[in-house]
Amino acid sequence: MLVRLLYASRAAATVDAEALGAILKQSKANNPAMGVTGVLCFSGGLFLQVLEGGRGAVNRLYNSIARDPRHTDVELMSYEEIGERRFAGWSMGQVNLARLNPALLLKYSETELLDPYAVSGRVSMALFDELVATASVCGPI
Ligand SMILES: Cc1cc2nc3c(=O)[nH]c(=O)nc-3n(C[C@H](O)[C@H](O)[C@H](O)COP(=O)(O)O)c2cc1C
Repeated sequence: MLVRLLYASRAAATVDAEALGAILKQSKANNPAMGVTGVLCFSGGLFLQVLEGGRGAVNRLYNSIARDPRHTDVELMSYEEIGERRFAGWSMGQVNLARLNPALLLKYSETELLDPYAVSGRVSMALFDELVATASVCGPI
């Protein structure tokens, strides 16, 4: 029983490269044992993360992430039972913002700014799919 969960949140304090690196390091250390894969995007003070894996593992991890004081306004954007993973290649991949084409954001939203609160979960998922398809996600397994 696999599920895919997508949420958005706002960074609580200024998340610099070091703070973001610490979150990714923690994710890459913990997720393989839980069988969780996914991608984390951070832009303009907002996080957008997709988590895939067994229902219990994903639900427990999401509850733990939602209590993390490093972010606020954690909002569930999409939750679905799935037949297969789409982000199996990453224990926690990161969106390479240098390769985030403004035209891609414009394709799905009103402005070039990433604002998951302003669009549907379906739109944010479509954006993630394109980021993977255009090799804009990096990070080792
Ligand atoms: C935006 C964000 C994304 C996170 N993603 C993950 C994740 O994918 N996996 C994970 O284990 N922890 C993640 N965390 C950290 C968890 O909230 C929590 O600190 C961690 O799971 C605690 O486990 P540990 O203390 O055993 O390392 C994330 C935190 C934030 C703020």
